[in-house]
Amino acid sequence: MEFIKVTENKEPYVALIELNRPKELNALNRQLMEEVRDALQQLDKNDAVRVIIITGNEQAFAAGADIKQMADKTAIDMLMIDQFSTWDQIRKTKKPIIAAVSGFALGGGCEFAMTCDMIIASETAKFGQPEIKIGTIPGAGGTQRLTKAIGKAKAMELILTGRFLSAEEAHFYGLVNKVVPKEMYLYEALQLAKEIAQLSPVAVQLAKESINRSFETHLDEGLTLERKNFYLTFASEDQKEGMKAFVEKRNPDFKGK
Ligand code: HXC
Repeated sequence: MEFIKVTENKEPYVALIELNRPKELNALNRQLMEEVRDALQQLDKNDAVRVIIITGNEQAFAAGADIKQMADKTAIDMLMIDQFSTWDQIRKTKKPIIAAVSGFALGGGCEFAMTCDMIIASETAKFGQPEIKIGTIPGAGGTQRLTKAIGKAKAMELILTGRFLSAEEAHFYGLVNKVVPKEMYLYEALQLAKEIAQLSPVAVQLAKESINRSFETHLDEGLTLERKNFYLTFASEDQKEGMKAFVEKRNPDFKGK
């Protein structure tokens, strides 16, 4: 594992996955997500694990999908790479997953936190879907999950402007379970994990499956549409300009093409 660190027994029955690309603010390249997928599949089969926590570091949970890895891709490249099959496998994890978020949770990072079942946030956490600023849109569930979590008006505002949501606002809108001081976010996630880990793993798993079912039929259709539209942005000059501008550290000049 190059980009993540897995501790199977952080507490009895509680495993911890730490995203570990600190210099890139944990930007989610494809290998990192595959490592997360492989770790989750193993932990799901391990009877000594009942609850899983995913965290980054104090500065960033994850600042998004790796823009440098995507910048020059065409729509067809993106379609054929099919990175979202990895994300689909991640969301099939049966055991509960708690995201412990400090600092940036942006773009794919926000989507990854929302793919988890609950979110504990440090007061420094910043959530957002800033893809619009680099000429694309959320592609890993943001248009679907954020809208369901915080409602249409606020989701429109965030996704159409790329603005960030503070931890306090994220709590107000129901995106996160709890906000705590920055020294406490992992501790608080562990407390929640330990409480759940004492309960019947069978009932917990079935409850998780049932709650997810409450929106998954719609989610499947929504994810499919979002994915196609995300790929479509890679057919635009604006996506090339937006991502190139990020890499070159300058403001993009969007032409609507
Ligand atoms: C690749 C990234 C990155 C990213 C940060 N870095 N975010 N590299 N992909 N998403 C890199 C920077 O290039 C830089 O590397 C280093 O991490 C530190 O970042 P800085 O920008 O210097 O830090 P700071 O000035 O503090 O700004 C933090 C930031 C900014 C506001 C989070 O980095 C930012 O705007 N990042 C991009 C956020 C974003 O647009 N996310 C959505 C991506 S698209 P160097 O080498 O220069 O030191 C997406 C699509 C999802 O997620 C759908 C598919 C899964």
